[in-house]
Formats: sequence, C-alpha cells, structure tokens
Amino acid sequence: VLRCCFQSQELDAFGRGGENLISSAKILIVDDDLESRLLLESLLRGEGLSVHAVSNGLDALESVERVQPDLLLLDVLMPDLDGVEVCRRVKTNPETRLIPLLLVTGLSATQDRVRGIEAGADGFLSKPFEPIELLARVRSLLALKAYTDELDRAESVLFTLARTIEERDPYTAGHCERLARRSVELARELGLGPGEIQALERAGIVHDIGKIAVPDSILLKPGPLAPEEWTVMRQHPVTGERICSPLRSLRPVLPIIRHHHERFDGSGYPDGLSGESIPLTARVLQVVDIYDALVTVRPYKRALSSREALETIRRETERGWLDPRVTAAFLRLCARDAPEPS
Ligand SMILES: [Fe+2]
Repeated sequence: VLRCCFQSQELDAFGRGGENLISSAKILIVDDDLESRLLLESLLRGEGLSVHAVSNGLDALESVERVQPDLLLLDVLMPDLDGVEVCRRVKTNPETRLIPLLLVTGLSATQDRVRGIEAGADGFLSKPFEPIELLARVRSLLALKAYTDELDRAESVLFTLARTIEERDPYTAGHCERLARRSVELARELGLGPGEIQALERAGIVHDIGKIAVPDSILLKPGPLAPEEWTVMRQHPVTGERICSPLRSLRPVLPIIRHHHERFDGSGYPDGLSGESIPLTARVLQVVDIYDALVTVRPYKRALSSREALETIRRETERGWLDPRVTAAFLRLCARDAPEPS
C-alpha cells in the first residue's frame, strides 16, 4: 500500500540553580490602591526582581501582552474590571494561560476564593500579608513558570524538527497541518474527548518525526522499496516514539506515533496489534494519513481524485486493514464536506 510511510534539576524553587532564572523574571502588579502597589513593588524590587505596575484591569490586560510577565499579582477588588475577571481572561487566552497568577485580596470570603479558583488563579494572598509569605509564593510560582517555559521550548524544538523533516520531502508539503486539522475533525465526528482531540492535533505534526532516521535514498525513492529498505522504513514509528518519549507533555501522543501503521487485522507494524488493541486515536490518524497520501502526488505514484481515494479506503477496510467504524465516520465527514454527485 502506501509508503507514507527534561526534567530540570536546576529549577528547584529555592535552589541556587533557580536563582538566575528567577532574578531575570518580570512581575506585573495590578492594584488600584497606591499604597499597597508601592509596598508590593518595593518588596519585590528589594529582591532584585523586575517589576511593572498598573492600577486597573484594562491596563493589566494590555501590559500582559506587551510585557509578557512571568508572574501576575492581581488585586481582586478593583473598579470596572476586577481581578477575577482579568484572571479569567488571562487564563482563557492560549497565549497567556501559562503565566502564573496570584490573587491578592483583602477579603477572606470563601465566595471570592471559589470565583478565583474557577477563573484559574494559581494561588491567593490575603491582605495584610507577611512579606516572607509573599516572597515564598512568588519564588515558588516563578520556578514553576521557568519549568513550563523549558518544556515549551523543548516541545517547539520537536515540532520544528517534525516540520523540517516534512520539508525534506517536497511531495508531502502541508501534509502535517492537513493531518492535524482533519484528524481533529474526525475525532469530533467519533465523539472523542478533549484530551484525545488535543493529542491528535499534535500527533498530526509529529507522527512521522522518526523519518529523521530514514535516508533520502529510501524516503524519496521513485520506485518500489526493496525488502531491506522496507525494514528501515518500518522503524520510523518506533524511532519517533523514542524521540518524543522524554517529554511528559507528549505522553498521550506516543501511542499514536507508535501505532499509526498497525492494521485492524493485525498485519501492520511495528507491533502487529489488531482490532481494539490498536489505540483508537492511532486508528483515526491512520485513515486521515492514508487519505491525504492517496490524494497527493508522490515520487512513486500519481495523485488520486477524492472519489478514487475514498474507494481505496473502502477496499482497504473490506480487506480488514482499517477499522470499519472509523472509516464510516471519515466517509460521513467527507460526504458532508463535498457531497458526491448522484
Ligand atoms: Fe508514518
């Protein structure tokens, strides 16, 4: 068929290694009360931290975008946009949701804390606070931020690597992005949960990262592969899983990377899994992967029309290679997008 086929030890919250990262951190203070704003500023500046301060919620949202702080200290009671609302907006924006956020409140009312937790706050500080408690919380949250930044960077490296591998093969340009988008649509059609949908979106990009170990002479070969070349090609799901496995955040993606070339009847690779023992997310990505490869021109084949590709997928399902339930959902999806003329 188709060929397409850190855990950081230096970020201890109070450890010496984390000091450098923490002292270069930027903190945004939002408080309408001048006295408490100045108090917070002087305490944090005294620790050598870089501090920005604003007096209302709207300025806070603008500063979050402009300053890109590593920590937000937000007063709850402010006119117009209160601290909880600012918190909710920061935490629902994918660009800013990983910024740790501490709500500072003069109220001990449980109701405010519940609202704050629901809005995504990472912690609370009650006024009047002890400076030692403030500094301990700030250090702890900055250490957390440094850790998530590091994970973020590691993930970006892998995603860039995956796209670079895709670019090695001019015939597969845009394949990863299409796969990510279409897999998400198919997952929704099958009623999968948000965790599985997110895993599929990322798997669309990184699923073939293991092809980094496949030489161009095999990857771009215009004719059929020799048996020993197939042996190399069939290693790519295992290699890909190994490359991504150190990143805990990619754990839900690993089964998709490893099993996206299994077949429903057990004749696929690398483990020869069959039926329901193949993760459903891998079965979803596989159908979309095959369809995209069929409708794209490759060095060894022409591009099929959508109708021909769907017919091939139907045939492969009848042969027992693909999950009939996933195929049926994919056919429904395609029929909705571009109904076949009767
Ligand atoms: Fe693959």
